Amino acid sequence: MIDLQPVKGTRDFFPEEMRLRNWLFEIWRSASVQAGFEEYDTCVLEHEDLYIRKAGDEISKQLFSFEDKSGRRLSLRPEMTPSLARLVLQHNKSLSFPIKWFSMPQCFRYERMTKGRRREHFQWNADIIGQPHILAEAEILMLLISACESMGLTKKEFNVFINDRRILNAILSQINVPEELHSTVLVILDKRDKISSEALVAMLEDTGMSAKQVGQLNEFLSNTDLKDLEENLSDTTGVEQLHSLMDMMDTAGCSGYLKFDISIVRGLSYYTGAVFEVNSPEKKHRAICGGGRYDSLLSAFGGETVPAVGFGFGDVVVLDVLKEMGRFPELPRKLDYTIIPFANEQVGIALKIAAELRMRGSVVDCNFSMKKMKKTMRQANESGAAKAILLFPEELAEDKVVIRDMILHEQKPVKIADLIS
Ligand code: HAM
Repeated sequence: MIDLQPVKGTRDFFPEEMRLRNWLFEIWRSASVQAGFEEYDTCVLEHEDLYIRKAGDEISKQLFSFEDKSGRRLSLRPEMTPSLARLVLQHNKSLSFPIKWFSMPQCFRYERMTKGRRREHFQWNADIIGQPHILAEAEILMLLISACESMGLTKKEFNVFINDRRILNAILSQINVPEELHSTVLVILDKRDKISSEALVAMLEDTGMSAKQVGQLNEFLSNTDLKDLEENLSDTTGVEQLHSLMDMMDTAGCSGYLKFDISIVRGLSYYTGAVFEVNSPEKKHRAICGGGRYDSLLSAFGGETVPAVGFGFGDVVVLDVLKEMGRFPELPRKLDYTIIPFANEQVGIALKIAAELRMRGSVVDCNFSMKKMKKTMRQANESGAAKAILLFPEELAEDKVVIRDMILHEQKPVKIADLIS
């Protein structure tokens, strides 16, 4: 007997769930298009090398990878950013930078299954490539905020928690952690909320940091005030960039969304500047969305240095959040007409009326169950159709059908020619 359940960690989408998914995708797509982003896509299969990174990123250990029949190491994509970098590198010379692109790929990660984490998810990605100035961060964050608001989340219900990797790098440099260790240390710091403090200390010391340095690092990270950090750090580039970004967002009318949070690191080693995530003000959930600036990913793939900033916004957490808040939209099936014949010889005329109405833009289904009147009317109600077209022999003999308004429960005969003209 074949296992009828979907593969562990993956989902099936029945029509009702599909309507919800499409609703979310439509918000993502229209927010992106309205903000001047263009859609792109790539294949779900990629070369495994694209995801192997030295810094020990969790994602490299979560690959659904395999060898194909010709011995190539391939992987299902766990994220879209490396594919985007690959596309940009392919056409580096002909693209007119900066580019603003978005995509809504399905991604696969062999994750430990916890709330908000599955082995497959859809992830809206929006990225600006070729813009070194923080105005790219501002545009990206404004897009993110507009999409959250279109989903019905208000300013009081979500925040963008933001930090800058340059602040974290400045702290590490100040306590004499060698630069080549920074990415590895940051990937470990991202686990701060998920593992015990003893385990964290042990992992940090394993990188070569001394107990004293770990203590100094913890002290820096307990400081939650941007002004204090500015006074205590010798390299304040990151702090200054964050101040300017926040000022720019205020001027753009988006004040109050951004919250500085030193604990935001994000687990991907390629981030080089701002890093951010969206969550409820109390940070009740897994990150709804995560992103940041990654100015050296393209050069790591062997190309020139191209500045880039973007985010990935998964479907799983946000739908959990909206469900918990009782904010799922009503999404009934949309049908203008259901056409109901009562005998086999009426099938032809039912199909003809359906085709004519569809040509005029109506959404039309035919109910060919040939059941008794009562049962068919129940099905018509359940179908969500606004009107039923009943093919009774008497009316058909006069080239007419009966149209029943399913909401008003009123019906009247109408000439077929009038209906489809
Ligand atoms: P990420 O932080 O790994 O970033 O993931 C971004 C978002 O994808 C998360 O905040 C979450 O909404 C969703 N997500 C990730 N893994 C899972 C999972 N196993 N189950 C459900 N949802 C998940 C990236 O992937 C970066 N490539 C984003 C990016 C684009 N940065 C710059 N541009």
